[in-house]
Amino acid sequence: MQRIAVIAGDGIGQEVVPEGIRVLDVVARRFGLDLRWDHFDWGCDHHARHGRMMPENGLDRIAGHDAVYLGAIGWPSVSDVESLWTLLMPIRRGFQQYVNLRPVRLFKGVPSPLSNPGAIDMMIVRENNEGEYSEVGGRMFPGTDQEMVIQDVILTRHGCDRVMRFAFDLARRRQRRLTSATKSNGIIHTMPYWDERLRAVAADYPDVAVEQYHIDILTAHFVRRPASFDVVVGSNLFGDILSDLGPAVAGTIGIAPSANLNPERKFPSMFEPVHGSAPDIAGQGIANPIGQIWSGALMLDHFGAHDAARAVVRAIERVLASGDCLTRDMGGDATTQALGTAIAEAVSVHDDP
Ligand code: IPM
Ligand code: MN
Repeated sequence: MQRIAVIAGDGIGQEVVPEGIRVLDVVARRFGLDLRWDHFDWGCDHHARHGRMMPENGLDRIAGHDAVYLGAIGWPSVSDVESLWTLLMPIRRGFQQYVNLRPVRLFKGVPSPLSNPGAIDMMIVRENNEGEYSEVGGRMFPGTDQEMVIQDVILTRHGCDRVMRFAFDLARRRQRRLTSATKSNGIIHTMPYWDERLRAVAADYPDVAVEQYHIDILTAHFVRRPASFDVVVGSNLFGDILSDLGPAVAGTIGIAPSANLNPERKFPSMFEPVHGSAPDIAGQGIANPIGQIWSGALMLDHFGAHDAARAVVRAIERVLASGDCLTRDMGGDATTQALGTAIAEAVSVHDDP
C-alpha cells in the first residue's frame, strides 16, 4: 500500500490533479497496486481562511506518507514570497528533496515551435535545495538613496556532489553522457566551484562523457539542437530556466512533469507538474493535465512500479499520437477532463509488446 498526500493547491492545480488521480487509479487496478489518497486543502484559499498556506505542523502531517502529489501553488491574492516560501519550498527543503528531475520529450502528435526539432528526449537534473534560491541576504536603508539589497548564492560541497552523483548515475543508465550548465566566466566564485566539483565527481565516472556550457550559449543550443542532449545537470536557477525552455521547444510546458526526489527515502518525495497555477486560464477546464499525469508516472517509478509507470507513459503517447484529443496549448480544443479520460481509457488497454 502507498499512502499519498495530495495537495491540489491553487488555480489549475485543482483541475489537473483529479485527472492525474483518475489515470493512476485505473493503472493501479490494472497492476494490482493499492494507492491511498489523503487530501490536504492547503494553498491560497487556506491562506484566506486561516492566514497561512498550511497548518503550522503541516510538514509533520505528511512526513509519514510515501509521496506527495502536488498540483500548483500560487495565486494573485497572496504574494509569491509568502505562498511559495511557506508551502512549496518548505516541502522541497524540509524533506531534503535535493534532486528535481524533469524529463523532456517530444511526443508524436505534439507540434513543436521548431521546424526541425529532431527526437528530443532528455533528463534535466536540477539542484533543488540551495544555489541561487537562498534565504541569505537582506535589505538595508530601505526607501533611502542608499537603499541596497544582497542575495547570496549558496553552494556546498555536499549539495553539489550529491546532485551531480545522481546525474552521473542516471547518465550511466542512459547514454553515458552528461552536460553541465555553468557560468564560471561571469559568476566567478560559485560557478567555478560548481565546475570544480563536477570534475571531482566525474573522476568516479570515467565511463561517462562530460561536456559543459555556459548557460547563455546552452539556451541557444537548446533551441538549435535540443535532440543532442541527454542528461543535463544544473544549479537551482539554471535548472529552472532549462526546464521551461526544454518543454517549450518540445511543444508545451503543459505536459512537463517533475519529481522532487529525496533519493535516500528518509522523507517523502514530491511529484508535481513543471507548470504553475496559471491564473489566466484557471477555472475554464482547458488546462493540459498531462504534466500532472506524467508526474504520477514518475511517482509510480519511485514506488518501484515500473510496469505501471511505463503503461501510463505509453497511454500518453498513444492518445497524443492519435491527435483526437488535444488541449488548446497543443493546438486542439479538448477539455482537461476529456484528455484525462482519454488517457485513463488508453491505460486500461493492454498493449504490452
Ligand atoms: C518551478 C517553479 C518554482 C521554482 C517557483 C514557483 C518558485 O518555477 O517549480 O520550476 O522556481 O522552483
Ligand atoms: Mn520553474
